[in-house]
Amino acid sequence: MNFDKNSYIDKAVEMDDKRIHYREYRDILFVDKPIDDIFHRLNIYVPLSFYDGQSINGYNINNAPIFIPNSVGGYFPGYIQEVSESYTIRQALLHGYVVVSPSIRGKTLKTKNGKNYGKAPACIVDYKAAVRYLRSFSSSIPGDTNKIITNGTSAGGALSCLMGVTGNHPDYDDYLYEIGAADGDDSVFASSCYCPITNLDNADMAYEWQFNNIYSYHRGFYKKTDDNKDEYVSVDGKLEDSRINISKDLSAMFPDYINSLDLKNEKGESLTLDKYGDGSFKDYIKSVIINSAQNALEKGIDLFEYNWIKIKNNKVIDIDFFGYANSITRMKDAPAFDDINMRNLENDLFGDEDNDYAHFTEYSTFHSTVNGKKANEQIIKMMNPMYYINDEKAVTAKYFRIRHGECDRDTSLAISAILTLKLKEIGCCVNYSSPWNVPHSGDYDLDLMFKWIDSICK
Ligand code: DHB
Repeated sequence: MNFDKNSYIDKAVEMDDKRIHYREYRDILFVDKPIDDIFHRLNIYVPLSFYDGQSINGYNINNAPIFIPNSVGGYFPGYIQEVSESYTIRQALLHGYVVVSPSIRGKTLKTKNGKNYGKAPACIVDYKAAVRYLRSFSSSIPGDTNKIITNGTSAGGALSCLMGVTGNHPDYDDYLYEIGAADGDDSVFASSCYCPITNLDNADMAYEWQFNNIYSYHRGFYKKTDDNKDEYVSVDGKLEDSRINISKDLSAMFPDYINSLDLKNEKGESLTLDKYGDGSFKDYIKSVIINSAQNALEKGIDLFEYNWIKIKNNKVIDIDFFGYANSITRMKDAPAFDDINMRNLENDLFGDEDNDYAHFTEYSTFHSTVNGKKANEQIIKMMNPMYYINDEKAVTAKYFRIRHGECDRDTSLAISAILTLKLKEIGCCVNYSSPWNVPHSGDYDLDLMFKWIDSICK
C-alpha cells in the first residue's frame, strides 16, 4: 500500500456543453493483503485546475472536501466507478470536490474453491479500509482528509450511514487487520444516505406496521429483451394466509421495539405506540409525510387526486396513514427482509464462508421453513448503525443527510425516522426529509446535496 503522487493520467470528459478536465490516480491498493485483483482498490479523481493553483467554489487542492460515494446496491459487490460512467462523480468534480471511488466486496463473491468472501461485514470493512488509507497518506492525498463525506443509496445508503456512526469502533478491528488495512482513523466528517436499507434486524416489524392490513403486493424489475432492450416486468401477488399471519405477528411486535427506544421529538415529547400500533410515534411519521406533501403543495403540485390527504386553506392538515400506505402500495411479501425461506437479498448478505444464506432475526429463525441458522450476533450488530449510536467507543460524524422518498416501499419510513431521531438525540446535525413522490432511489437532488456539503464544509 502506498500513494505515488507521480502516477496519474490527465483526462477529460464531455458533459452537456461542458468539458471536465481531471487528474486520475487509478487502481490504488488500499490494503496490504488484497483478496483478488479487483477488490481493495480505489480511484482518485481531482479537478485538473487545482494543479494550476486555481480554485473552484472556494476549494483548492488542499481544502477540497473528499467525496467518497460507494456504488453498492442490494449488498452486491460495488465496483470502482469511472468518471465517464457516473453523473454524480462528474458533477462532484465540476463542483470542486476530490472524488474517491473504492471497490467494495459484496455478498455474491466466491473463491475458486466455492468459499464466500464478500458476506457481512466485508462491505463495511472495505469502506473503512479505504478511508483509513486516505488518512494514512493524508499529507500527499489531494483534498482535506478531515472533510471526508460518504454517500450511497439503499444498501449503499446503509453503508454510508454505518460509516458515519461506527468510526474507529474496535468491533471492526480484527476484520481490518485481516485484510492489512492501514492502522488509524476510519471516522468520517459527514454521511449522506439515500433510502438506507438499514436496521435490518428490526425492519421486518416496521414494514408490517406500515403496511398493516395491506395484503397484496406489487413489484417490478427490468429484464433484457431478445433485442437487448430493457423491459419492465411487473409482478403482482397476494400474501398467502400463512404470510398474513406473519404480517400480523410482526406488526404487533413493532410497538414494543419502538417503546424500547425511548424516542423523543424535537420538543422532548416521548414518541410511543400502543398495542394497536397507534400513538405519538405514528403521528410523528405522519408529520414527515405531511411536511412532504406541504412542500409539494407549495411548489404548485396538485394533490387533489390524493384522497388520503386533508388540505384546508392551502395547508396539509392531516393524512390518513392507511390511505397513504395503500396508495404507495406494498412491495414485499412478509417478512420483507428476513425471509422464512431464506431467499431475500439480506439472507444472502448474512451467509458466511460456507453458507450462502442465514437468518438474522429471532422471529424468522424460529419460523424458518428451511431449518435456517441465525447469523453470528456480532456480525448482525456490525451491520446495524442503531447499536453504535450511543456507543462511546465509536466516533460519530457530526453531519448526516438522510433522504427517504415519500413513496419508497423498499423499507418503512419508520426506519429512516428512527435513525434520524436517535442521531439527533446524541447531538448530530441531521438534515432529514422525505421528498414528495420520490421512490426508492438516490442522487436525484445533487445540487441540494452539494449545497449541504458546502454549508458544513465552509
Ligand atoms: C436494496 C433494495 C432492497 O429492497 C433491499 O431489500 C436491499 C437492498 C438496494 O437497492 O440496494
